[in-house]
Amino acid sequence: SHAPVVDVLKGQYEISTTVTVKGWVRTRRDSKAGLSFIALHDGSCFDPVQVIALNNLDNYADVQRLTAGCAVTATGTVKASEGKGQALEIEATAIEVNGWVENPDTYPMAAKRHSIEYLREHAHLRPRTNVIGAVARVRNCLSQAIHRFFHERGYFWISTPILTASDTEGAGEMFRVSTLDMMNLPRDDKGNVDYSEDFFGKETYLTVSGQLNVETYACALSKVYTFGPTFRAENSNTSRHLAEFWMIEPEVAFADLSDIAQLAEDMLKYVCKAVLEELPDDMAFFAQRINKDAISRLEQLVDSEFVRMDYTDAIEILQNCGKTFEFPVEWGVDLSSEHERYLAEEHVGAPIIMQNYPKDIKAFYMRINDDNKTVAAMDVLAPGIGEIIGGSQREERLDVFDRRLAEMGLSQEDYSWYRDLRRYGTVPHSGFGLGFERLVAYVTGMQNVRDVIPFPRTPGNAQY
Ligand code: 4AD
Ligand code: MG
Repeated sequence: SHAPVVDVLKGQYEISTTVTVKGWVRTRRDSKAGLSFIALHDGSCFDPVQVIALNNLDNYADVQRLTAGCAVTATGTVKASEGKGQALEIEATAIEVNGWVENPDTYPMAAKRHSIEYLREHAHLRPRTNVIGAVARVRNCLSQAIHRFFHERGYFWISTPILTASDTEGAGEMFRVSTLDMMNLPRDDKGNVDYSEDFFGKETYLTVSGQLNVETYACALSKVYTFGPTFRAENSNTSRHLAEFWMIEPEVAFADLSDIAQLAEDMLKYVCKAVLEELPDDMAFFAQRINKDAISRLEQLVDSEFVRMDYTDAIEILQNCGKTFEFPVEWGVDLSSEHERYLAEEHVGAPIIMQNYPKDIKAFYMRINDDNKTVAAMDVLAPGIGEIIGGSQREERLDVFDRRLAEMGLSQEDYSWYRDLRRYGTVPHSGFGLGFERLVAYVTGMQNVRDVIPFPRTPGNAQY
């Protein structure tokens, strides 16, 4: 058996013992003294291990042909390193080349700096780079920490469906799923597509959110969450929108807006702390190469209380800040990312919990406040990215809910099962959705959500 590089570098193998590592060459350097230094990485941690190959190896000629990307099994003795940069290294007694790189001159991931756009076009090879490897480890750390956070607090993880007939956000940004023959669609008397002949017997889509489904479980198991992929056919070519993204959606019975805002704050602190503690080397890399504040701002987030602000106050701040925005600001407008980022980056300098938005810009299920103009909604806005969380207290009063449906031209029939939650033992309840890629982008400092998900789906691009 062989050792993960991380275990060797952490000193789990004593000096002078023999160890085998397997991985890929990052760089090779030959010294005049007749030996070669190979940086071998296997993804188990940020750093590669240095393998020293002396020219008395019987296949030393092969060693001298190793290039970035070659797969290698190296066996040797653990030694204290004389070079700087690492404490331990391996002096090889045998090096087996498992896989050569066909033509090193045209290897797309040759050892040099590639632009992030170039890497995006090589999504199948980019996990081999420092940056995408580090992103993958942070992404994993965050998802494990999220599950741990909820598990420790007695939440149940509920699997909500991917295929659905409901448009949770009511924004009409759904991908249709159908088994009908597109060239020969069945039509009813009025000429409309007849979905009764479709697989599910009605129009069906990929889910935009598991919220409505998970509310049913909150109204029985009290504290629940979903964590899964969601899909939006919004034609937004921006650095924060994906057509397929992952969302974490807790839903809590007997909880109001301030409870759920506190949950969001506690969760973000918990998961950021986990990354700082578990992945210091990856975070040091992000601080050095991607965003110099990558570590300090997470430390600050963990240590300070999030600012809570009312939408109405935010509008006033934006109107009086002396800045001209592309989208003019007045009460009633949806905040755009330039507004969100001004507030989070320049006004506060840390994440903000924005609350009580105008009802007309928010979804049908949000609870109407006593002023009849706003809803008990909250978004978390983070520096560098804007909205990372959207949530609310849900309208639990059947009569108020029905009035809102009517106002918005939605039918009671379509929401009959959702209305049942309000008819049978209704309780105040609240929840939010955290966009996972936006969180990973925030934590790493990466500028574009396309670089924090392995295979991004965006308008015009579903390669791989
Ligand atoms: O604000 P949204 O639309 O809220 C909901 O879907 C609610 N049903 C959540 C809930 O209360 N359970 O989306 C929630 C979050 C956003 O704050 C954003 O971080 C992320 O999902 N998000 C996207 N991330 C990447 N690409 C997109 N196209 C996204 N749309 C939303
Ligand atoms: Mg939102």
